[in-house]
Amino acid sequence: MISSFYEKIVGSSSQESNIPKILCVGLTCLDIVQTCKRFPKEDSDLSSVEHRWQRGGNASNTCTVLSLLGDSCEFFGWLSSKEHFNFLQNDMQKYKIDFSHCPLTEDYSCPVSTVILSLSSGSRTIIHHNPNLPETALEKFKELNLLEKFKKLNLLDYSWIHFEGRNTTETISMIQYVEAFNHSLIKETPNNSQFKNLPKDVPITISVELEKPKSSLLDLLPYADVAFISKDFAKSRGYNNMSETLKHMSLEAKSGATIICAWGDRGAMARTPHGIMVQSPAYPPLRIVDTLGAGDTFNAAVLHHLNKVKTIFIEREKIIQAIPENSDEILNLNIGSKHEIKYNHNIESLEYCKTKFITQATLQEAITFGCHIAGAKVGIRGYDGLNKVFGNKSEMVIS
Ligand SMILES: Nc1ncnc2c1ncn2[C@@H]1O[C@H](COP(=O)(O)OP(=O)(O)OP(=O)(O)O)[C@@H](O)[C@H]1O
Ligand SMILES: *[C@@H]1O[C@H](CO)[C@@H](O)[C@H](O)[C@H]1NC(C)=O
Ligand SMILES: *[C@@H]1O[C@H](CO)[C@@H](O)[C@H](O)[C@H]1NC(C)=O
Ligand SMILES: *[C@@H]1O[C@H](CO)[C@@H](O)[C@H](O)[C@H]1NC(C)=O
Ligand SMILES: *[C@@H]1O[C@H](CO)[C@@H](O)[C@H](O)[C@H]1NC(C)=O
Ligand SMILES: *[C@@H]1O[C@H](CO)[C@@H](O)[C@H](O)[C@H]1NC(C)=O
Repeated sequence: MISSFYEKIVGSSSQESNIPKILCVGLTCLDIVQTCKRFPKEDSDLSSVEHRWQRGGNASNTCTVLSLLGDSCEFFGWLSSKEHFNFLQNDMQKYKIDFSHCPLTEDYSCPVSTVILSLSSGSRTIIHHNPNLPETALEKFKELNLLEKFKKLNLLDYSWIHFEGRNTTETISMIQYVEAFNHSLIKETPNNSQFKNLPKDVPITISVELEKPKSSLLDLLPYADVAFISKDFAKSRGYNNMSETLKHMSLEAKSGATIICAWGDRGAMARTPHGIMVQSPAYPPLRIVDTLGAGDTFNAAVLHHLNKVKTIFIEREKIIQAIPENSDEILNLNIGSKHEIKYNHNIESLEYCKTKFITQATLQEAITFGCHIAGAKVGIRGYDGLNKVFGNKSEMVIS
């Protein structure tokens, strides 16, 4: 239903490429993955069943999956021309991930994760090393400041920015910059219904992933429209399940935030801006092959779905503005909830773009879709082939 409506308003087809870009801010690293029959004993000598190198890092993995789902997406994070980074950049190119605005420095060597996958338990054990940028390098050039580079982005290109919660101070300063951009949009919106620029000049939705069990990440919560809370983070706060996590986290989030929590084979749960809980079971594959990046896959699938819903929502608002009389056809469309349509819209507020597109129904669809795609992912090695899974699942979930 959504896609046929979408075709009506944009004229031709519901090409995913019409949907504005998603930017993921975070880290890319080299993953060295050893698949073993079981997790090794300390000080033992074990042969692995298989080994591979792959591009990793949460934001970078999320981009891979977004790209496979047909979104245009960009990665923003430190790169260097040092060894291994060539491999990472070539791989991003292969997956059509834009990385053209990344800060680049010779002083940065590649972060590396060593990962042990256990076939007997399905666990993934990660040892991560991130060589921090030397302070001297940071002081040398203003260019090397992540925020300065971030400010060079043309924010009109993005409808959504996802932050992998890492350095809290740095992340907040980037979010504040986005906030200022949002405000400038509101000021520049013409006084009288000139909505022709609306699809591009859309306020940016911010999502944040609280992944590492570091309590300082909590400071990011009040800035997020959509927050992903990992089970590792939840456990570090002493929560035992998803509903407890959502209940407590919503107290720290900004009002109107959407909070999402995934929990391995228990699936995922989320809380709408109005405090309604939705839940999806996991969809395990016949055989668990590779759980590395399941969380990143889930996040990407949810972002994909919500960004699509947002785009359609904004297109609809545009049509409603353009058609003065009530049209039954538009009123009956099952996107978002009817009572939120404002016919005499106050364009100065731009309020409707906030998170009104996230309703109980759209959030339910998003996490169900996330669990389907993440479930499919744990059944395959790496990410290749997810686009085919998506081909089968997309119709089901969208309609
Ligand atoms: N064993 C599993 N069986 C089925 N689905 C799974 C399994 N593990 C993960 N998933 C799916 O992946 C989603 C994300 O899981 P979770 O957040 O536990 O991943 P994660 O351990 O953080 O992954 P990673 O850290 O490697 O990115 C779950 O909501 C679920 O849908
Ligand atoms: C990515 O996320 C997983 C959990 O989802 C975490 O265990 C892993 O360490 C993260 N990787 C990096 C490079 O931060
Ligand atoms: C965060 O980044 C700033 C520079 O932007 C740096 O000064 C600070 O040490 C970093 N903090 C951590 C915990 O890495
Ligand atoms: C940008 O504007 C949108 C819509 O008003 C809002 O939902 C979002 O929170 C704003 N983001 C920031 C970082 O201010
Ligand atoms: C909008 O129009 C009203 C009346 O037409 C005017 O008083 C007001 O200053 C205008 N606002 C802006 C931001 O131009
Ligand atoms: C979640 O955990 C809390 C605290 O441990 C417990 O009281 C509650 O019953 C649990 N809820 C579910 C659905 O398991």
